[in-house]
Parts: sequence; structure tokens; C-alpha cells
Amino acid sequence: MSTSHITLPTTPESLLPLVIQAMSRTPDARLRELMASLTTHLHAFILETQVTEEEFECAVKFIIDIGQATGPKTNEVILAADLLGVSSLVAVLNNPAHHNNQHAQEEAVSHAALLGPFWRANAPICQAGDNIARGNTQGLPLEVCGVVYDKHGKPLPDAMVDVWHASPVGLYENQDDAQENMNLRGRFKTDAQGAYFFKTVRPAGYPVPTNGPCGDLLRAQLRHPNRPAHLHFMVSTPGHKVLITQVFADGDDNLTSDPVFGVTAPLVGQYEERMINGQRQAHLTHDFHLVDGEMTFPHPPIP
Ligand SMILES: [Fe+2]
Repeated sequence: MSTSHITLPTTPESLLPLVIQAMSRTPDARLRELMASLTTHLHAFILETQVTEEEFECAVKFIIDIGQATGPKTNEVILAADLLGVSSLVAVLNNPAHHNNQHAQEEAVSHAALLGPFWRANAPICQAGDNIARGNTQGLPLEVCGVVYDKHGKPLPDAMVDVWHASPVGLYENQDDAQENMNLRGRFKTDAQGAYFFKTVRPAGYPVPTNGPCGDLLRAQLRHPNRPAHLHFMVSTPGHKVLITQVFADGDDNLTSDPVFGVTAPLVGQYEERMINGQRQAHLTHDFHLVDGEMTFPHPPIP
């Protein structure tokens, strides 16, 4: 049988149209668009950089390794996306801090930041003023307060402020046997004026996990792993898009070299330190501004 009428690839460049054609009947239009674009970029990348077979094997091994390194205590896949700036890109793209309309001057919208690999669902429900530094957690006492607003500046009562952060030695409770379960995590409802208030200890900066494949990548790139100190927040109330963000400590040495690219200027909090009854104490005031939308929560990176 003659095969002269069959189109088969003869050059590296002739593969892409065949792949796009093979995927062209995907009924889901968005999946079709995403896969066609991703495949186009991947082919262009491989051609541009002339990827070798050894390099392809290495890339496949990295993807296998980050999956296998992911478990109940760490999520190496999210960390890989974080280190490539992809998590921050998706967060910033999907949460524009200012609307492009004529009301832009009147509307304040909080900057979002990446979720990170350490959010756990179902943190303890707390009362205003509760301390989330439980057990024998030592550190500089920190009080945090603020108001949750809608995009028009109207306070939002009964909004949920979910906070989580690393300890003063730079470890999340799930990474540290010395901390009790759910330490430095809590959920606070705003009061009738939209205000929230909680106590904790001032967190330290910390290195992202470096004992897995992502650590190998950082070392190969001569990059340091140290995140500037921060508090994570997830602020939610029905009828509004869930705000996922981080508030960083002013003065931290790593603000401009965050390995996961989460820092934007409005997210640098002003920590004030005072002496109260002979004891040094830090205070942070930070407000949140939500936009209208659907209250959809992310999938927890760790259980
Ligand atoms: Fe963090």
C-alpha cells in the first residue's frame, strides 16, 4: 500500500501542527485553548533552547520528584510553582489591585499574594483578642488589628479573617514537633464595625524547604531560600471574592529578594514596637478591602 498520501512529520517544526490538530476537537473550549497554547509554548521552548534527551529526562525526573516529595507536611509542587514566580503571577493577574474603570479613584482593593504551601483548612475558631500563640510558644508579643471593607469602603461585619504564620524560629507548626497542632493559626470574625483583633508572637522569616528537589534547584541557581517574615491572611465573606494575601514585616532584609516573589509595596506592614508595662510589644494595623465576587476557597495544600 502506498503511504505517499499520509502526512508524517519530517522536521522538528512540523510536529506542532499535527499535535494541535489532534487536540482540536476537544469539546471544552477553554481546555482546548489552554492545551493548544501550552503545547505551542512548549514546542517553541524546546526548539529555541535545543533541549537534549538528557535534559528532557532530567525535567521528567524533577516533575516525578516534586510529586513524590509532596505529602501531609509539605507540598513541593506548589513550592516549585512559587519558586518560578508562577504562583505570584496567577495571584496578581487574577486579583488586580485597581479596577480599570472611571471609579478607580474611589475604590481601594487589597493586593493579593500567593497562598503558599502551608495553609490548612479548619483552623480553630477564635474570639476577638484571643492569642494564637499556644502552648509554650516564646516570642515578642504582637497585636494585630484592622478593618475589613468592601470595595466602596463600607466595613464588613461577620467577615472571616483566617491567619497563619511561622513561629519566631521560622517554622510552621506542621514542620515542628515542639509546637502543638494548629499553633499560630486561627480564624476570627469581624465585629459589627468590620474590625478584627488578635494576639500572637512576631514571626520570623524562614527558608522555604530545601531538603527536596526544589532545594536542589535553588542551590543550582545560587539562590537563597529565605522569605521575609510575614503573616498569611485569607479574608472571606459571602458575596465577595476570597482575599488571599500576606503582610510582610518592614525592615526585613529579604523584602526585595523573596524567593517566591510575593512582596508588593502595599503588603509591607508597619510594625510598631512599644514598651507596655515594662515589656516590649509589637503592634500591626492592617486593613483589607474585598471585591465583589464568589466566595470560593482554594484546595488546602496540606491537610
Ligand atoms: Fe509563609
